[in-house]
Amino acid sequence: MAAQIIDGKLISSQIKDELKEKTALLKEKGIEVTLAVILVGDDPASEVYVRNKKKACEYIGFRSLSYELPAETTQEELLKLIDELNDRKDVDGILVQMPLPAHIDEKTVINAISPSKDVDGFHPMNVGALCIGEKGFVSCTPAGVIQLLKRGCGGKIDIAGKECVIVGRSNIVGKPMSLLMLRENATVTVAHSRTKNLEEVCKRADILVAAVGKAGMITKNHVKEGAVVIDVGINRNEDGKLCGDVKFDEVSEIASAITPVPGGVGPMTIAMLMNNCYEAALMHMES
Ligand code: GUN
Repeated sequence: MAAQIIDGKLISSQIKDELKEKTALLKEKGIEVTLAVILVGDDPASEVYVRNKKKACEYIGFRSLSYELPAETTQEELLKLIDELNDRKDVDGILVQMPLPAHIDEKTVINAISPSKDVDGFHPMNVGALCIGEKGFVSCTPAGVIQLLKRGCGGKIDIAGKECVIVGRSNIVGKPMSLLMLRENATVTVAHSRTKNLEEVCKRADILVAAVGKAGMITKNHVKEGAVVIDVGINRNEDGKLCGDVKFDEVSEIASAITPVPGGVGPMTIAMLMNNCYEAALMHMES
């Protein structure tokens, strides 16, 4: 039987609509949620991402402050802007779009953002909080995967006690994904480029998360009958067509549920960013 499609576009719309309602209630109390978005240089993909983030803010009713800086901006200038935004009471979240030009050190920039405004969840303080089960901002893409699992297939996918295999160990997806799955009581395996017998390891999975960045590398030989397959990859194939890490056509024949690319994990990232901004505003309201 063909797999059920987990519709990320629909689920992300639901999350954004829920946020829109909650944001209207905050507005009635005179509270405005504000996200500052910083883009350095003119990378076309980053420009698209930033535009989409600003559009989502507008839809939900957040205020967005936009800083589009030239590629020659120095690290000192960027850090000074971040400092100013850290100090501003009317700014809830700060997002610096990655990648940054080569002369700017991304780690230094991430560390400069106040953890209480780090809506990307990249600051070591937030990563550490996730690791030891404390409250903090969680990286948006893995947080989105959890929502897809909880809300997809009519809420029938259980995570607790399941064998979960994550392929990929990046700081932004693979590692936080493993911690979130652990928090949901899954039994977690993280596979990567040095993993031996990858097919065998992946075949153990009840829930398989592919986050490698290689078009079509997960085939039907990696998937157990009835597994849930989440495809985090966003790649272009030889024809320039958008595709995931999973060979969708053949894997959807054996999986019980699967996310498509596009329209799966992708739209969830922005929805979760918006959720983090809302949470940041609530936190700042209390402090
Ligand atoms: N570049 C690609 N993905 C992301 C993301 O999630 N956040 C930021 N800040 N930059 C990115």
